[in-house]
Amino acid sequence: MFRAINISKKFNDKQIIGNFSLEVPNNKILCIVGPSGAGKSTLLRCLTGLESADSGEFYLNNNKFNPTNANDKKSTIGLVSQDFGLFPNLTVMENVILAPQLVLKLSKEEAIKKAKKLIRTLNLSGKEKLYPYQLSGGQKQRVAIVRTLAMSPKIICYDEPTSALDPKLSEEVGKILNQLKSNNIMQIVVTHDMDFAKQVADDIITVKPLP
Ligand SMILES: Nc1ncnc2c1ncn2[C@@H]1O[C@H](COP(=O)(O)OP(=O)(O)OP(=O)(O)O)[C@@H](O)[C@H]1O
Ligand SMILES: [Mg+2]
Repeated sequence: MFRAINISKKFNDKQIIGNFSLEVPNNKILCIVGPSGAGKSTLLRCLTGLESADSGEFYLNNNKFNPTNANDKKSTIGLVSQDFGLFPNLTVMENVILAPQLVLKLSKEEAIKKAKKLIRTLNLSGKEKLYPYQLSGGQKQRVAIVRTLAMSPKIICYDEPTSALDPKLSEEVGKILNQLKSNNIMQIVVTHDMDFAKQVADDIITVKPLP
């Protein structure tokens, strides 16, 4: 179970997130919906430590952790960001194996072995040597998912994972998320796409912009 309790975040004195709490049981997918500007990406950035929350607590299976602490975050929580965030100057394989070597201290051989397995699972075999600009939107989306999974996170957050996809590819990504619902993984999905939310969500919460 992942729990975030009473998370608050201000930017320049404007309260974006106020005492927001959520929980995701093991093997469940929580969808977060809400209007543009409501603070959904900010919330995911706080959960994954890219922003520091002003207050609030985070627990994985009743153990408190701090997402902004690199050691706590390692293999705990990963983010597939809205713009994929792939390194344009690295190939698919290089994108996937970089962080496992730097952060998890895997050898290059171990990182490649793990990457190959995930690349196969997400139907990207044959794309290893291509650069991001040589991929379609859906392929980039899946590389971003592979890159996050290569860090073996227990909690995976996705920011608008279907925004670059047609309905068929959205359904494919939905299937992938549903397949990941094992090994006690918890997933949090921010989306505007209600069909996608219906396909994957075990629970849906709505965020509203604060006055
Ligand atoms: N680093 C920042 N500095 C200042 N303000 C910020 C920063 N990041 C986000 N904001 C503001 O916080 C608010 C919420 O932004 P956020 O990106 O979280 O919204 P969102 O719900 O993800 O919207 P969308 O659905 O359009 O992606 C916006 O008003 C935005 O301008
Ligand atoms: Mg957003």
